[in-house]
Amino acid sequence: MLRFCLLLLTLVGLAACQKEPLTQCDAAQPLHGYYPFPVGAAISMIELGRGTAYDELARRQFNSVTPENCFKPSYLHPGPGQYYWAEADALADFSQASNQRLHGHVLIWHQQLPGWMWAFAGSPADWEALFKDHIQTVVRHFRGRVAGWDVVNEAFEADGTLRSTIWKQHLGATYLEKAFRYAHEADPEALLFYNDYDLDSNPVKRRAVLSWLRTMRQRGVPVHGLGLQMHISILNPENTQIAEALGEVQQTGLKIHLSEIDVAVNPLGKAVTPNRELLQRQADKLAFLVRTYQELPRDQQYGITFWGISDQNTWIRRYFQRDDYPLLFDDNYQPKPAYCILAR
Ligand code: XIL
Repeated sequence: MLRFCLLLLTLVGLAACQKEPLTQCDAAQPLHGYYPFPVGAAISMIELGRGTAYDELARRQFNSVTPENCFKPSYLHPGPGQYYWAEADALADFSQASNQRLHGHVLIWHQQLPGWMWAFAGSPADWEALFKDHIQTVVRHFRGRVAGWDVVNEAFEADGTLRSTIWKQHLGATYLEKAFRYAHEADPEALLFYNDYDLDSNPVKRRAVLSWLRTMRQRGVPVHGLGLQMHISILNPENTQIAEALGEVQQTGLKIHLSEIDVAVNPLGKAVTPNRELLQRQADKLAFLVRTYQELPRDQQYGITFWGISDQNTWIRRYFQRDDYPLLFDDNYQPKPAYCILAR
């Protein structure tokens, strides 16, 4: 490499070897230390414990942990009556050893279900038993270790109607309310969240969720918080939309979790290089989001969580099959401007 650079130097001069530095700070201090609320990351059990820089960043930079996948039913509940705790317990141990809050994600969702649940052919009563057993077995298992749960994830469509998930099909619309009641029975101390995406950019969906939450509260259903996923990009939403959304959700008095933050720089899926301009726009968008969150009343700030640590591990590259750089640390685990702007 050195020889290559020297050669380049002689050929085209100094500029060729001096890549623009993408980093403006080091990550000597933990990020969470700058905030009065927990700052978390989704942790992947594929990455953790491989001996890369990921481990140290996961342990030091954050004081809250969300399992990226290993608490989902496809992992945790692979067969009827069969639970697989090993990975989930390992993550719970990791978070405890690192003095981190553990946030449970996710009890009831329409994705990442095991094959046997998709194929389940029981009566409505059998479905209800399955549903209740899953929620209560999982919540009881982690009782005292998980501080809060995403009880139901993504139950609403973009037009504000209820999504036709297998849960709605087999239990009816009241599955939502039942999920919260069952979870609360299994751990009365845990904070229970409804979690969804695009609540920042889609007011129709947001207002449907907020109106449903109001009804839940009137009916005494134990819902304590709202998770805004915040899979956003440098293009969308506008800052004014973020401010409007957080202003509206604050009115609920519920705890608010920015639960799955990433800021895509390539939402349109073009050929892209993460140059200084793009990374600065990403940092500015994130800074606005976090500043606006900081203005919420302290008792409503459950915390903020990034959906991964390094760009190398982001779900966006795999899931959407596109090049992107949405997280705080670059492919070499170095802090990006998005990190630096928050770490002060
Ligand atoms: C994603 C994970 O990051 C991926 O590894 C997995 O393949 C699919 O799920 N909304 C959610 C998260 O609530 O659980 C999703 O996580 C991302 C979108």
